[in-house]
Amino acid sequence: MLPTDWRRRFRGRWSRDRPLAPCTTWRIGGPAQLYFEPAGVLDLARTVRMLRRIGAPWRILGGGSNLLVSDGGVAGAVVSLARLRTIRRAGERVEADAGARLADVVRFCAGRGLGGLEPLAGIPGSVGGAVFGNAGSRHGAIGHRVRALDLLTPQGEVERRVPGEGFFGYRSSGVGDAVVLRVELDVAPAAVGDVCLRTREIVRERNRSQPGWVGNAGCVFRNPAEGSAGRLIDRAGCKGMRAGGVRVSRRHANFFQNEGDGTAEQVERLIDRVRDRVRRACGIELELEVRRWG
Ligand code: EPU
Repeated sequence: MLPTDWRRRFRGRWSRDRPLAPCTTWRIGGPAQLYFEPAGVLDLARTVRMLRRIGAPWRILGGGSNLLVSDGGVAGAVVSLARLRTIRRAGERVEADAGARLADVVRFCAGRGLGGLEPLAGIPGSVGGAVFGNAGSRHGAIGHRVRALDLLTPQGEVERRVPGEGFFGYRSSGVGDAVVLRVELDVAPAAVGDVCLRTREIVRERNRSQPGWVGNAGCVFRNPAEGSAGRLIDRAGCKGMRAGGVRVSRRHANFFQNEGDGTAEQVERLIDRVRDRVRRACGIELELEVRRWG
């Protein structure tokens, strides 16, 4: 039973046994026992504090990319950032709530002649998720642009953090157990036409070498020191390999495509088979980039 003081103040939506598949880019996964969609940053902070108080396990759901939810779903609570989407300009900075789509932030900047975020064009997911995993491309990662972060600490306090040297690494950040609430990004004024052109070029380049983001989770494995995991998987002859309704993309081998009726169990099976082949072919142990729930 959820506490009445929290219920009285909560302005968002919540439900039980909410299917998570529609919330992930893989379109795979069972239900969340409890699902919350807070209406704003304060609502989110209050909800997380309440969950901590009652001792319920909880997780934050951003854009649902980079995420594998098990077929049995997840015990405890899932707190979605879907309604925390405000993006605003503040001089030569852009502030975005953690649930804002990265693509919307890139578009917001391009339309106003604010340069610097073009390397992030075409990356799915939320700003909060992007910061947590330092999302990026070979043109640059989001960490390079983060001026400040508002975090909800594991103790339930809201804290402003200015990331210093070493806060961001390859697909990693020092966010840890905290929740990203809001992000302040450095941008630089430029001609609208130039920013739009560069953004389009980067999206085009991505589309040439990768499948779209529907039905997959982006790169499944992190790149090892030896280079592109996609190239290694390709060389090991895994392109087109399948487990049920899930297939290794023929365009980029580090993408696993759900062809419609794929399951998490099939993704797991494919992960094991691909890892095994790459290990045998080149002696490299691939490490997962996608996170698993449940
Ligand atoms: N390649 C192959 N076969 C493949 C895939 C790639 O031979 O199936 C070769 C390409 O031809 C190229 C090289 O491998 O010569 C590198 O490929 P790519 O430019 O696609 O880069 P990547 O290292 O495979 C990384 C990121 C991507 C990001 C791209 C582009 C990781 C794990 N992946 O991929 O990020 O979009 O660079 O900047 O860091 C993600 O993290 O989810 C992601 C998609």
